[in-house]
Amino acid sequence: MAAYAHIVGWGKYIPEKVVTNHDISKFMDTSDEWIKTRTGISERRFANEDETTATMAIAAAQLALDRARIKPSAIDLIIVASLSPEQPFPATASLVQDAIGANRAGAFDLSAACAGFIYALSMGSAMIQSGAAKIVLVIGSETVSRFLNKEDRGTYPLFGDGAGALVLQAHNTPGGVLSTVLGSDGSGAEHLSIPAGGSKLPASQYTIDNRLHCMQMNGREVYRFATRIMGKVAKQACEKAGVDLDDIDLFIPHQANIRIIQSASKYLGIGDDKVFTNLHKYGNTSTASIPIALCEAVEAGRVQAHDKLVMVGFGGGLSWGATVVQWGMPVPYKPRQWWYRGLRWFVYRWAKIRSSYLRLKRRMESILPTKNGNGYLTPDEERSGDKYKENGHSPHISRNGHTPEQVDVPAEIPETYSETEEPVIEVEKPSNGK
Ligand code: UT7
Repeated sequence: MAAYAHIVGWGKYIPEKVVTNHDISKFMDTSDEWIKTRTGISERRFANEDETTATMAIAAAQLALDRARIKPSAIDLIIVASLSPEQPFPATASLVQDAIGANRAGAFDLSAACAGFIYALSMGSAMIQSGAAKIVLVIGSETVSRFLNKEDRGTYPLFGDGAGALVLQAHNTPGGVLSTVLGSDGSGAEHLSIPAGGSKLPASQYTIDNRLHCMQMNGREVYRFATRIMGKVAKQACEKAGVDLDDIDLFIPHQANIRIIQSASKYLGIGDDKVFTNLHKYGNTSTASIPIALCEAVEAGRVQAHDKLVMVGFGGGLSWGATVVQWGMPVPYKPRQWWYRGLRWFVYRWAKIRSSYLRLKRRMESILPTKNGNGYLTPDEERSGDKYKENGHSPHISRNGHTPEQVDVPAEIPETYSETEEPVIEVEKPSNGK
């Protein structure tokens, strides 16, 4: 039976710290008037010291799960799209997985700059449509402010921080993510990048002195690319979904520049009343801009059950993506009762306890002597524990579990993992007005 990937939960996290155009014009050769007229941005939010890409992703994810009434342990996969991840690795998604106690979930980060959220949504829905997953948590989270050069007026006033998360769930009812279109043109890679910190230019005194760990952008080039691609890819996504442009209820574009958005909506023939924008408040939050905008559109009552939404992202790569989604969930959100909030509190405290226990266990395993006094056993050694005991000494174990004397023996059939249990899915049945 066909599986459709429905959006059943949504959540956002916006840092409290507001930075206005006036604040920026105090230390930079710019003005409120210039920023507003050229971009549409009035203010943005910057993360405080204790807020990071992971903490904001976690907060947005918890809210999305709460709305979906889905237990973290039911999630199959977590994808975090970000151009400002917590660290180069491990994946921010793994930190989210640990913090929310999603003990059955796979987790990875996805890098496609500002188009990343559409890529992540596309991957998540494809996993559901293929039957490989039932519940996927898709997050866009950014602390772009940590990668901005305070002396570069071409980037600093444009960006902001925040996070947005969606829960996708498999349903038999047609709807949800109807189509996705992705694209990339790496010949324009140099127009928008963070040049240092990778294998080409590892961090050094030189990269720091020259601010190469900060974002660099050729605004005009990106502008030209964006105005060309946005409308075009939105149209392609509609064609792929078999949805007429006139039937689109809401256009939710990447919030980079109001002039780019106006140009795309003009190309598509979509009136202002069907375009959602919030960049005047948050600036460009990169991968977080589309999910934050979607959350706010829902909160503002701009999205109703069965509405058809088009979302379009573009950015560094150069890369772009668009999706058509048929909304299937009732709005607005009804605040949870005290007992539910208590239960939720307990679930996340339990995740913390579990995480601390796993860390302690790992630490103990590494320092405590084993029965044979030889310290920690590798997983291969543990598997061949019988031979280990028979011989009474520690043999060298190769990666496939054989001792050196056994390496010529044909490989055994690899060990397979038992099927994981079906996830427990707890979702409210859509009912209007709830
Ligand atoms: O997520 C995707 C990433 N980014 C984008 O989508 C950004 C795409 N690009 C843009 O939004 C626009 O190109 C900008 C907002 C970055 C720039 O607007 P523009 O209308 O393309 O301006 P411009 O680059 O053509 O610059 C016009 C003038 C220049 O001065 P001159 O050369 O005419 O004397 C700039 O030096 O404005 C100057 N300028 C500024 N002036 C005051 C550039 N930045 C600023 C500034 N304040 N912050």
